[in-house]
Amino acid sequence: LTGAITMDPGYKNSGSCLSKITFLDGEEGILRYRGYSIEDLAEKAHFLEVSYLLIFGELPTAEQLQQYETDIRKYTLVNEEMKSIIDGFPKTAHPMGVLSALTSALTAFNPKAVNPDHPKELYESVCKIMGKFLVIATWTYRKSMGYPLNYYDNTKGYVENFMHLMFQLPTGPYTPDPIVINALDKLFILHADHEQNCSTSTVRMVGSSHAGLFASISAGVSALWGPLHGGANQAVLEMLEEIHQNGGDADKYMAKAKDKEDPFRLMGFGHRVYKNFDPRAKIIKKAADEVLSTLGVDDPILAIAKKLEDAALVDEYFISRKLYPNVDFYSGIIYRALGIPTDMFTVMFAIGRLPGWIAQWKEMRINKEPIGRPRQIYTGYPLRDFIPVDKR
Ligand code: SDX
Repeated sequence: LTGAITMDPGYKNSGSCLSKITFLDGEEGILRYRGYSIEDLAEKAHFLEVSYLLIFGELPTAEQLQQYETDIRKYTLVNEEMKSIIDGFPKTAHPMGVLSALTSALTAFNPKAVNPDHPKELYESVCKIMGKFLVIATWTYRKSMGYPLNYYDNTKGYVENFMHLMFQLPTGPYTPDPIVINALDKLFILHADHEQNCSTSTVRMVGSSHAGLFASISAGVSALWGPLHGGANQAVLEMLEEIHQNGGDADKYMAKAKDKEDPFRLMGFGHRVYKNFDPRAKIIKKAADEVLSTLGVDDPILAIAKKLEDAALVDEYFISRKLYPNVDFYSGIIYRALGIPTDMFTVMFAIGRLPGWIAQWKEMRINKEPIGRPRQIYTGYPLRDFIPVDKR
């Protein structure tokens, strides 16, 4: 099959691609990274382990995993001059806009273009972006709060460092709850890759011109920001909070979502590919219940989310259009319970999706894919004669 597809010249311009990274079946609700089920990985693996699997193709041995984490730690310092760039943003800037800009700015401090045919060079770049992206992602929050910017602590784990970078204040010790770290680790795994979604296709498209890895990832961050894509997790919480403030009438919003006059979409429902339940949503829903009950969080927003979910699952409009809760419907509820501010939800998605973007960029370059050039169907005017301006 692969041979047949690559032999077909049309394939090159079909906008589709060959990939060995992620398999998903929208009808059956199946998601696998490099052949491993998302259920197995979410339950038995850790995020860095899964990032290694996605990027290098195999689950690492204990020694490889330890070396990988050590090598990432070599690059977690971000050039101090990057602070003058982030200082140029107003506190009110959306973290995703700041993250995209800072990711692109990393190119200024790492100007040597990565040659994917040089494994050592490529590996070093992977460790660099895995280390630095986490730090600059949290700087967007620290900047918005007027807090001093934190440094990665090489004595802590990768996901524990996220909490440290976000919430450690100079005024005293900070020890995040292991339950929170485990929940985040699982959430990052669930977001790590998803085949040719909008932001990943953007990373592949930008990278296909041989733009650098950092520039391609920066473009992916911008694509993910959109409320129809990764921005949906923030939009879900804003919608749930609006319903709560308006008396909690979920049915009214269900009716709005079905009103063809009003383009309102029920955020967190539906998917381009999953025309069955998003397998990630099932796992996240269970994690949300666990985190909220363990942390003793009694969140009225969750009750409204449950009402919406129950109503949609029996509503003809949603059933006929196969609109089920997606990954973004529940992830925002957990982030909220963990104290992550709403405008950082899509940044969380980006941190999780980073290994997928890297893996897909690497695959596209190693496969020496041609520059992306989707074709079009022209629907404009036929040839017309020019009319001088005084005759128009
Ligand atoms: C992600 O691609 C990926 O893999 C993405 C992602 C990933 O991991 O990278 O999974 C992450 O982006 C998840 C999706 C998050 N987005 C949202 O939750 C935003 C709300 N959902 C949608 O806008 C919508 O469902 C999409 C964009 C996700 C999918 O849209 P489709 O499949 O293109 O559906 P469509 O626009 O063709 O709509 C089909 C019908 C329409 O009604 P009719 O014209 O047939 O009457 O379904 C309706 C739509 O109006 N519809 C909705 C709806 N989504 C679709 N109606 C109400 N609420 C919704 N959410």
